[in-house]
Amino acid sequence: MTISDRIRSRLGLLVCTSCRNGGLAARDEHLLCTNCGTAFQVVRGVPRFVPDDSYAQSFGFQWNVHARTQLDSVCGKPISRNRLFETTKWPADLSGQTILEAGSGAGRFTEVLVTTTATVISCDLSSAVDANYRNNGDNANLLIVQASLLNLPVRPRSMDKVICLGVIQHTPDPAESFSALANCVRPGGELVIDVYAARLRSLLSWKYLLRPITKRMKGEKLYGLIERATPVLFPISEFLYRILGQFGLRLLPIVHYPKLNLSPGLSLRWAVLDTFDMYSPAHDHPQTLAEVKRWFDKAGFADVAVEYGPNGIVGRGRRPAGPV
Ligand SMILES: C[S@@+](CC[C@H](N)C(=O)[O-])C[C@H]1O[C@@H](n2cnc3c(N)ncnc32)[C@H](O)[C@@H]1O
Ligand SMILES: [Zn+2]
Repeated sequence: MTISDRIRSRLGLLVCTSCRNGGLAARDEHLLCTNCGTAFQVVRGVPRFVPDDSYAQSFGFQWNVHARTQLDSVCGKPISRNRLFETTKWPADLSGQTILEAGSGAGRFTEVLVTTTATVISCDLSSAVDANYRNNGDNANLLIVQASLLNLPVRPRSMDKVICLGVIQHTPDPAESFSALANCVRPGGELVIDVYAARLRSLLSWKYLLRPITKRMKGEKLYGLIERATPVLFPISEFLYRILGQFGLRLLPIVHYPKLNLSPGLSLRWAVLDTFDMYSPAHDHPQTLAEVKRWFDKAGFADVAVEYGPNGIVGRGRRPAGPV
């Protein structure tokens, strides 16, 4: 398979992750660094800047099994769309801008980002990029790459906007990950992240009790267990929610979102997916408001807002225009 015109037309945005200096040129099914000669394979339409999924294997597995479960276009509700615009406070039209999305998973937010008509570069460390490519790869304004946010194939300080939702807590060193993302933002550009909150009520949960065991289990085995247990526990969880409200949802070791009002089938699929997403990742490092605020300040960002949001802590900031 040769490299698509879409990738060719976006090569000017990319930089070699090996020497971090050269641009990339298309050659057969590779991208070649014009400086150091490193070749990056393009596999199933996606340039690959990492040799494998590294510590994010469980995510590659889950997002390929549940490639479509959480897409707004499948749920028939603007769940990801609302979360994205409420979190970012961005306008719906971002034409002329370049957005970097770090840790796309199967592309529930990518699907929304491309509607802004901005040019979107979407990366994930894992084979989730294959699911995202199947879901969103047809969009002319999207480039999907498999890469780590710790060594992204974009030039430092080149992106108008960087967004990273639901990812930083799953990296080995969240502060280092934040700093790598901040480094991609151009002067005057914006960074928006969210990260799990280190709050007593989050920490006192089945998740942190069971994770020492579950994170060491083989993905397929753990998934099989969750796929069998969730349909049994799900009606009990619904009952507990009816009589005890939000507190009732904490009593069982599964995730369940009654407030989303999904169809029963979809609701169960979300429960299986997010229960696996809770127990399987190699890393889960929740943060405090003060810590996230420190990250933005250390990176020299202005207009910083750090607050509790729909999925833990939301942080927004702008790199001041001109030299910092
Ligand atoms: C919980 S999922 C969230 C996916 C998507 N943002 C969403 O909310 O649906 C976390 C994602 O981060 C990716 N990830 C973890 N470490 C990463 C890294 N260093 N660079 C890029 N992606 C990473 C995982 O592979 C996974 O797909
Ligand atoms: Zn190079």
